[in-house]
Amino acid sequence: MTTREKPQNLWMGRWGFVLAATGSAVGLGNIWKFPYMTGEYGGGAFVLVYLLCIAAIGIPIMMVEIGYGRRGRGSPIDAIRRVARESGQGAGWSLIGWMAMLCGFMILSFYVVVAGWSVSYLWKTVTGGLSADTVDGMAAIFGANNANPWNLGFWSTLVTVVTMVIVGKGVQEGIEKSVRWMMPGMVIMLGIMIVYAMFSGGFGQALDFLFGFEIGKLSSAGLLAAMGHAFFTLSLASGAILTYGSYLPDGKSIARTTFTVAICDTLVALMAGLAIFPVIFANGLDPASGPGLIFMSLPLAFEQMPLGTLLEAIFFIMLTMAALTSAISMIEATVAWLNESKGISRVKAAWGTGIVLWIVSTLAMLSFNVGADWTLVGKNVFGWLDYLTSRWMMPLGGLGMAILAGFVLRDDIFRSELGLSRTQHALWLFMIRYVSPLGIVVIFIDALGVMTLDMGRQWPWLLAALVVLTVIGELFSPRLRKQLAG
Ligand code: PHE
Repeated sequence: MTTREKPQNLWMGRWGFVLAATGSAVGLGNIWKFPYMTGEYGGGAFVLVYLLCIAAIGIPIMMVEIGYGRRGRGSPIDAIRRVARESGQGAGWSLIGWMAMLCGFMILSFYVVVAGWSVSYLWKTVTGGLSADTVDGMAAIFGANNANPWNLGFWSTLVTVVTMVIVGKGVQEGIEKSVRWMMPGMVIMLGIMIVYAMFSGGFGQALDFLFGFEIGKLSSAGLLAAMGHAFFTLSLASGAILTYGSYLPDGKSIARTTFTVAICDTLVALMAGLAIFPVIFANGLDPASGPGLIFMSLPLAFEQMPLGTLLEAIFFIMLTMAALTSAISMIEATVAWLNESKGISRVKAAWGTGIVLWIVSTLAMLSFNVGADWTLVGKNVFGWLDYLTSRWMMPLGGLGMAILAGFVLRDDIFRSELGLSRTQHALWLFMIRYVSPLGIVVIFIDALGVMTLDMGRQWPWLLAALVVLTVIGELFSPRLRKQLAG
């Protein structure tokens, strides 16, 4: 019996997968990154574009990833190779899997540093270390927390160890058992915070800020950031969703689970916004204060509230849980690959990966103190890991997966994996062949600096490009037409 046929390597049910995938998707991206990006890019317009990107790029690609995982039943490398082979394609396509796996590893190596901030803030809250009464005071605390490599390294090492212990335990025992209580717990805690925020005095302002869609405010930078964030927040093209998909039992609807995960992820991000911005506004703080938003402004607001310390502790517990359920998913691909392809036991694979991860994450951690000046073209290690993964590797991986599924693989593979109705399948095919790839290419054009996009004005061109692309594509590879014709 291969490892894969043993029942403990499948989720215990539809909810097992949904919880784990939601746990992966919901993380620092939702609670830390989404609010501060929304703040920086001006609120409602960013939120609107982000939602569009989730719908047009994120959801179709997530379906593809889960499909590869379940069809190929393995780590990204093995699953993609198998699925490609089924269509008579070469092993070269598994490069997409290699990149995804590497991407998950690289994200985790800076993610543990941010998760470490969260744990250290929980500790500070409990031990009374967050008692400053100005933003500058809070910034000084944040700075001091970062300045000492031993301190910062301790917290990120702790996160690394906990992650590896959970992953080492395996799918049902480790991952599924932890997300089973962590995810609902997190949603309850967010709910408590929103109820509190409703009475804080800034709720109306926060609603306006988050949902006042002013299309005029749409900047090209905001638009592109929103697209990159859609990948990040849904854990796409980084091995996580694909590997989790490989544990999904046959017969569960990929489309339905994808929608559930994407909707939960989006709701948590919006809930985080609703919990955080009222506090910010009620205290007259700046919503555009950047990555420090939840570590500098928020603790300050909490300090001034009745029951503030309790809420603050709840907030950082929640953030830590969200980070952990994402962290385990980033490394599951590597551990599964070492385990299944290289025959290394899960525990050994987890610890081996953990040691390499610890080395890279230590370099990322040092970016905040002694290694702040170890820069290459203006970016330190932490900056490079973040930039390479979200700007390049995820979109490139997503593009590769979309092209493979839309143009290269045998048509019946995804038709049977997804099991959609004819119209639904045609819509999915249109998204995966034309809409998502075009969106991704737009990110690349901007990242290469070839031209600066101004989507507010150039959208008619984009629409034209989409039409031309679809016509050309269907002339040379008339899959969509066939699907529509039945
Ligand atoms: N989606 C996670 C978050 O929002 C991050 C993540 C990226 C998780 C890639 C897994 C893989 O925090």
